[in-house]
Amino acid sequence: MKNIVITGGAGFIGSHVVRLFVNKYPEYNVICLDKLTYAGNLANLKDIENKPNYKFVKMDICDFEAFYQLMQNEKVDGIIHLAAESHVDRSIKDPFTFAQTNVMGTLALLQAAKLYWESLPEKYEGKRFYHISTDEVYGALELTHPEGIEPPFTTTASSSEHHLAYGKDFFYEDTKYNPHSPYSAAKASSDHFVRAYHDTYGMPTIVTNCSNNYGPYQFPEKLIPLFINNIRHRKPLPVYGKGENVRDWLYVEDHARAIDLIFHKGKTAETYNIGGFNEWKNIDLIKVMIKTVDSILGNPEGSSLELITYVTDRAGHDLRYAIDSTKLQKELGWEPSLQFEEGIEKTVRWYLENQEWMDNVTSGDYQKYYETMYCGK
Ligand code: NAD
Ligand code: DAU
Repeated sequence: MKNIVITGGAGFIGSHVVRLFVNKYPEYNVICLDKLTYAGNLANLKDIENKPNYKFVKMDICDFEAFYQLMQNEKVDGIIHLAAESHVDRSIKDPFTFAQTNVMGTLALLQAAKLYWESLPEKYEGKRFYHISTDEVYGALELTHPEGIEPPFTTTASSSEHHLAYGKDFFYEDTKYNPHSPYSAAKASSDHFVRAYHDTYGMPTIVTNCSNNYGPYQFPEKLIPLFINNIRHRKPLPVYGKGENVRDWLYVEDHARAIDLIFHKGKTAETYNIGGFNEWKNIDLIKVMIKTVDSILGNPEGSSLELITYVTDRAGHDLRYAIDSTKLQKELGWEPSLQFEEGIEKTVRWYLENQEWMDNVTSGDYQKYYETMYCGK
């Protein structure tokens, strides 16, 4: 495969995938396609913007005609599809935008790819449509506490002690879809369309469902960058409900490495779960962030604990996510490279050292959204 489109390439995960492909595959023509919504930022790709194998195209994935044209002009062989509206809280306020981008946008890409690839003599030979999805489509798991063990109950992919999690059950590739938020319902719908294009037209598709990512360049409406920034500026930390919800965290570069591996070696029509067996209760994770930021900034230990502010819970808040990524590990040999403690320290340092990036992305429209969400304006 030579000509590859990465949609949502100016966003958080997309920018790490674009960077990896541009640096690792000089022989590829890597096209970063993005509408540059509030969540997309070309500053995320500054370090590679002048590479000869990189091109940026500003486009809305819902624009079928424009994308069909791009497929023809660039002779696109592969699509890695990350563009989406991605924030659950926004989906609760504005579900239509989520259905439009995540469902209709994905459908526009599928149909344009189908028409172009079917017009070629080789048809689908050597082509691939790789759709990036989320563990949220599976719904929520029950939460239990391992007897006699103090939190946090962290586990690692290389450890066999998976029972040290917040429950016996995990999300597997064949877990029934049961989305609860407009965001996850829209993602679930797009996953079904992708699989339908394989089953109906024979398009070579792949779907992966990943757990929560963290790391540099994440838009600071999401828990980790929002809280790091708020601790730095001594603003309240809005913890939803009791802070009991559990998320399974993976360093974003490990996700990008998994995407690279699956794009090249994954089996057509398969689904792979991606996750690091790294479950944290929100409140425990928040305490780790407070400790790390306070220590790096030289604040007295624990002085930012007073910023914790319990607020009304998120509507339909999923209790626990936990991914079983055994299939990916066994079949393709993928493993997360970072321990969580290392990853979170690296992440905190990055945000503290990149205040200019933070100031840029939090100016303007985002500031208005933040005030509506958290300041009762
Ligand atoms: P993000 O919000 O940071 O980035 C999304 C990108 O898509 C932005 O650059 C935005 O400008 C672009 N975009 C939005 N609407 C578009 C449109 N209509 N046309 C073209 N571009 C558009 O999201 P993210 O966290 O990087 O997530 C990327 C993908 O990975 C999403 O599909 C998401 O569902 C999935 N995912 C995310 C996580 C996570 O923890 N962040 C975990 C699993 C899966
Ligand atoms: O699981 C994968 C998903 O992870 C992705 O598909 C989504 O795109 C991504 O946004 C993320 O969804 P979450 O809803 O889990 O992430 P978020 O960072 O919004 O919230 C993480 C947890 O922290 C969740 O339980 C809600 C809670 N939270 C979040 C925010 C923003 C708070 O308590 N306070 C907050 O201010």
